[in-house]
Amino acid sequence: MQYTWNDIEQHIAACTCCPLSRTRNRPVMGRGSHQADIMLIAEAPGGQEDQQGIPFVGRSGEILDSLLRDCGLTREEIYITNIVKCHPPGNRDPKDEEKEACFPYLKYETYLLKPKIIVCLGRVAAQRIISADFRITRQHGTWIYRKNCALTATYHPSAILRDPSKYEMVKEDFYEIVKKKTEWMD
Ligand code: URA
Repeated sequence: MQYTWNDIEQHIAACTCCPLSRTRNRPVMGRGSHQADIMLIAEAPGGQEDQQGIPFVGRSGEILDSLLRDCGLTREEIYITNIVKCHPPGNRDPKDEEKEACFPYLKYETYLLKPKIIVCLGRVAAQRIISADFRITRQHGTWIYRKNCALTATYHPSAILRDPSKYEMVKEDFYEIVKKKTEWMD
């Protein structure tokens, strides 16, 4: 059976596959263009996202918007989602069983979108998507290729909130993403 975006959204809205469903206010489905070439995958919704049901609406979202603006991208032309769709209480890392329970949704999103570029934001996403031993400090900005997709990772915007000096480094990674899009699409 072939699921549509609408089917996935409805499944996520009603999902009770892991304990996060008992503490969430609203599940947070990915957002953006269903024709996007670039898919950003972060970790899990924060408190504000849990209230609004929209990814990256809190302080990390302001940083993300600034990075996108600086490299000439808009939210409307990319697709942003998370490894887990429900807010982990206290902003803790999602547990392995929560990531696994939610993974089918990410698979369907990726299958429907067929992105040319996947960007993991932060360690949790990079270790689930690129490799279990991925080290953001050493490997951010590096690229691997799977099928017809180029994958990279950079710091999560919340790392910039904790240490604003990282902004320029992450901006460089974003510039490379835009460059890759131009090269890769030609
Ligand atoms: N942090 C995340 O990892 N995802 C969001 O959607 C918001 C903050």
